[in-house]
Amino acid sequence: MDRIRIVGGNKLTGSIPISGAKNAALPLMIASLLTEETLTLDNVPHLADVEQLIRILGNHGVDYSVNGRREEQNTAYARTIHFTAHDIVDTMAPYELVSKMRASFWVIGPLLARMGEAKVSLPGGCAIGTRPVDLFIDGLQALGAAIDVENGYVLAKAKRLRGNRYVFPKVSVGATHVMMMAASLAEGETVLENAAREPEVVNLAECLNAMGAKVYGAGSSTITIEGVDRLHGARVTVIPDRIETGTYAMAIAMTGGDVMLEGARADLLQSALDVIAQTGAEITPTNSGIRVMRNGAGITPVDVTTEPFPGFPTDLQAQFMGLMTMAKGRSRITETIFENRFMHVQELARLGAHINLAGQTAIVEGVTKLKGAPVMATDLRASVSLVIAGLAAEGETIVNRVYHLDRGFERLEQKLSGCGATIERISG
Ligand code: EPZ
Repeated sequence: MDRIRIVGGNKLTGSIPISGAKNAALPLMIASLLTEETLTLDNVPHLADVEQLIRILGNHGVDYSVNGRREEQNTAYARTIHFTAHDIVDTMAPYELVSKMRASFWVIGPLLARMGEAKVSLPGGCAIGTRPVDLFIDGLQALGAAIDVENGYVLAKAKRLRGNRYVFPKVSVGATHVMMMAASLAEGETVLENAAREPEVVNLAECLNAMGAKVYGAGSSTITIEGVDRLHGARVTVIPDRIETGTYAMAIAMTGGDVMLEGARADLLQSALDVIAQTGAEITPTNSGIRVMRNGAGITPVDVTTEPFPGFPTDLQAQFMGLMTMAKGRSRITETIFENRFMHVQELARLGAHINLAGQTAIVEGVTKLKGAPVMATDLRASVSLVIAGLAAEGETIVNRVYHLDRGFERLEQKLSGCGATIERISG
């Protein structure tokens, strides 16, 4: 199993290209199931989760080619991938595939809308919380689907979905994606209230509209969708990854230095950038990206609470805790989205961090020094918080179980070593 070796203490200077967003690419790829024509996606990141979804879509009959060639090992930045779901050969998504990646449950929306049926495995538990699918079931039922849950599978049927008004009882990114896709091919108008406002939802709405859908209001909490009879092919660009952007911004705030995050968009993560600026880093959005600088002065502690967009994202909570471990004082970090997203706390403690948990709040007492140690990655964002801490720690940090990082960070070690960090992958 691969490991990452870091020797901390170097400032970061230079530039880091920001990849396409994993969490935008995944729903756009799933939208290809809605049409028999080709959906072309530009700026698709090369990540384990993207490759896994390619396999899952292939199971349903989606053909793909990368930059015009069928080539799984292509590692170029900003890949263009063409997806064609000419014939849906299977409307079943098996447990073996869905349990590996929760987002693959989302195929239920387009499969049901286009084929009139879908049988999709329940995703099962995951490291960051129980993550139920009740909102998907509720929402699709509101569009007229008959749904049974049997033997670990959700069976959904509807000759044709019918538009309706649906109020999400809780904000959910995935359920908003699925309802937008399903309602696009429903008969009549759907109004979604309390919808997720994340930039990835807006990117999916742009994609659906480019395919001939009529989706209005994405980015606000009310989304209106006028159903159409069919969707067609389109070409759409995946937005830059706001979580990768925030992660590197926090790494620079941690080590000090001056880095240009090429292609990053400040409007996608304003609340996180405001918080990073309060810690003492200088954030300058430019035409080509976001410049992040911090001089030798200490890190100011800041309290944060995770919230749905436009609030501070849960996907940056672990990284921010990494940064706060060396702040000049106490900070409180409250997680409100997932109930079990503090597994990095024990691992950060191995590097010398002082963190106490009180329910859903972590109280971080900043220390003046972290010391390198072997640590274990537990999930995607938790593992990169260990990298951030390792970059500032004295001596050697070894991050084990790097496959978590590979799910969502493209060429992490190259991007950081290109800015002066001592970081390498040890294979095997
Ligand atoms: C998306 O997950 C992201 N994943 C997550 O990123 C992100 O943490 C999350 O949104 C919140 O921003 C992708 O986009 C692929 P939710 P999603 O439905 O859609 C509860 C990462 O690291 N809920 O918005 O699955 C749920 O348990 C990942 O890249 C229900 O109760 O998240 C959670 O408490 C991790 N019932 C809350 O809603 C449901 O039916 C928000 O989850 C659905 C969700």
